[in-house]
Amino acid sequence: MKISDKIRYVGMNDRQTVLFEHQWPVPEGVSYNSYLVVDEKIALIDTAAAAFKDEFLSNIKEEIGDRKIDYLVVNHMEPDHSALQAVIRNEYPDCTIVTNAKAVPMIEGYQGLTDNIKVIKEGETLSLGGTTLQFYMIPMVHWPETMVTWCPEEKTAFSGDAFGCFRAVPEGCLVDGIVDFKEEMTRYYASIVGKYGQTVQAALRKVSPLGIERICPTHGPVWEKDIPEVFGWYDRLSAAKLERGVTIAYGSMYGNTAKAAQAIAQELENKGITVKLHDLCEENYSYALADVFLYDTLIVGSPTYNAGIFPPVQSFMEALKARGVKNRRFAAFGSYTWAGMSVKLLNALAAEMQFETVHDGLSFAQGYSADKFNASEIVDLLI
Ligand code: FEO
Repeated sequence: MKISDKIRYVGMNDRQTVLFEHQWPVPEGVSYNSYLVVDEKIALIDTAAAAFKDEFLSNIKEEIGDRKIDYLVVNHMEPDHSALQAVIRNEYPDCTIVTNAKAVPMIEGYQGLTDNIKVIKEGETLSLGGTTLQFYMIPMVHWPETMVTWCPEEKTAFSGDAFGCFRAVPEGCLVDGIVDFKEEMTRYYASIVGKYGQTVQAALRKVSPLGIERICPTHGPVWEKDIPEVFGWYDRLSAAKLERGVTIAYGSMYGNTAKAAQAIAQELENKGITVKLHDLCEENYSYALADVFLYDTLIVGSPTYNAGIFPPVQSFMEALKARGVKNRRFAAFGSYTWAGMSVKLLNALAAEMQFETVHDGLSFAQGYSADKFNASEIVDLLI
């Protein structure tokens, strides 16, 4: 697929995988993007996932016929982009791998390739004829070896996972192809890159002055006219510029904590506050996680289970901790039968994450009733 005379798309959509990384649902698919820069020399930028070997090779042949690939640029070594490096080397034995020093042991470890590797440094350039590639390190976006490849003549940044999003790329609509990208970009960011907000900010500072007119990420559409919006959205996510609003995330065994969650949500709606309600037993926690990256308040509900937090809720809280999420307004609630522990333990986790606990927490014994659980006790403190 032609992006410009010099740049061709040779990636593909994956509509079969149910869980990306075996953990994140991708109901609308995901794409693995790979690009060719075609000049006197030809460079391939990243590869694709192992299952797509035949489609990948066929896409390449369709673009360059019998010409050879001179360089394989490795921006990122996660296997959704690196799994076909040995296949490329086998097909194009003379192609030189171009990457940075941190990727070299990973290339050996994952692909068993050790020879004909050109190690480049920050800012170094590689000429393809009339076209140049230049390399900028963006470590921890989201592995230590990640880098951006910049093509100044095309004003194009091959950005790796940065600016990527879930969802297959709509057929025939590769450039700016997902109009409502924010939801799935946020869930992608929160699930995969969310731990590394500071390094994403550093990367944004590094690439902003380049004068980028096209972004070619490894997932989702190529960005052109939407660049200001995409940059702004990434800046917002990585700098934790939060909107006023409430994420309610809860788990419930027999529906009592669920009823309490719904009561809080209703009360918030009545007061005109934005509220996002997530049942952690019915949906993957990435959906709640995405809203935590957008809104300034988090309310978490859990019944007491084995004198602890209900496991789906515990997993969600651990996911927040693992991503270094902090500085949210927080409250906990939940039911118990004979000894209430969940609220106390949720508050302890919130304290570890430097959340501001706005209420000591509301718990109730056995079945839910509006008499036992006064949602406005929490909601009134949030206004
Ligand atoms: Fe899409 Fe970090 O790999």
